Amino acid sequence: MKGLILAAGRGTRLRPLTHTRPKPVIRLAGKPIIRYAVENLINADVNEIGVVVSPDTQEDIRQALKNCLNAKITYIVQEQALGIAHAVGAARAWLGQSPFVLYLGDNLFQKGVRPFVEAFHPDLGAVIALVRVPDPRQFGVAVLEKGRIVQLLEKPKEPPSDLAVAGVYVFSPVVLDIIANLNPSARGEYEITDAIQALIDQGSTVLGREVDGWWKDTGRPDDLLDANRLLLVEQKSPTPVVQGKVEESKITGRVVIEEGAVVRHSTVLGPVHIASGALIEGAYIGPFTSVGPNAKVRQAEVEFSILEDSAVVEDVPLRLHECILGVGARVTRRSGLPKAHKLVLGDLSSLELA
Ligand code: G1P
Repeated sequence: MKGLILAAGRGTRLRPLTHTRPKPVIRLAGKPIIRYAVENLINADVNEIGVVVSPDTQEDIRQALKNCLNAKITYIVQEQALGIAHAVGAARAWLGQSPFVLYLGDNLFQKGVRPFVEAFHPDLGAVIALVRVPDPRQFGVAVLEKGRIVQLLEKPKEPPSDLAVAGVYVFSPVVLDIIANLNPSARGEYEITDAIQALIDQGSTVLGREVDGWWKDTGRPDDLLDANRLLLVEQKSPTPVVQGKVEESKITGRVVIEEGAVVRHSTVLGPVHIASGALIEGAYIGPFTSVGPNAKVRQAEVEFSILEDSAVVEDVPLRLHECILGVGARVTRRSGLPKAHKLVLGDLSSLELA
């Protein structure tokens, strides 16, 4: 069994964060999202992994997957972002005649993907991970009969069930012939749901299996914050794990402070992850916060937030809550007059002033 992780999407709903970097490299609880995918595949004994990347952002993905032990990773470039089935088609030569796990690189599964891999056998067309959701309109939606999927629709306005397609699929290689003959959908993409429907129509058995534990598609900013929260709660040690330097500070709960991080005259209330090189000084870091490598929080309060590499929060009078700061983003206090907000915001940035 091979694994195929898709990491070439444009992440349009996460702009401006994704103007410069692909979504799967955003760090949650100390790790780029895509590393959770690799780890889940390895835990399901899938070690031969293809990663589909875009020509523009492939370097970031390669960096994020540096030193992934136990995985043999091959990068496959998808020249144009024309949909999930198109990305699989781009990997056809690499996949060969092997069954494979297709894993959308922005999806997170609390309990991994082993049950789906184990449910597959060579007589099946596919095994699809499904999740019951209150509003399935933004997902692929499945109709299930006695464990078999009989119909699949992509983002239907009137969903026929509450079973959303989660981002993990185990396929027989027969799907590759179907994909090669697929037509683009109304939105101009080659849809994986169309390929699966064609599998069903030609008589293949496609099983649906519900996901155990939580599942998260990190499409929008609120999903990122929530995924970060869920992953931080999973941190193993219920008491602080301090490898960095802590001086005159109060550290409570599930807190990881990596080697090379410095926390000084501060209060940290977990679950929190503070990456190497970060500096926390005279600050409060509250629950559900990830502080990225070399980020700085000084004389400020931050909770339920994600700070990416080298982000800076300094001398800010009001607590930051539900904030996502991209690489090198800065929130500081303006000195001097006029007493006004001074902003430099990238395209599609959002700012809510209290
Ligand atoms: C894709 C699939 C959709 C699936 C979802 C899961 O949608 O097309 O069927 O439910 O992933 O994350 P996207 O998030 O790319 O719009």
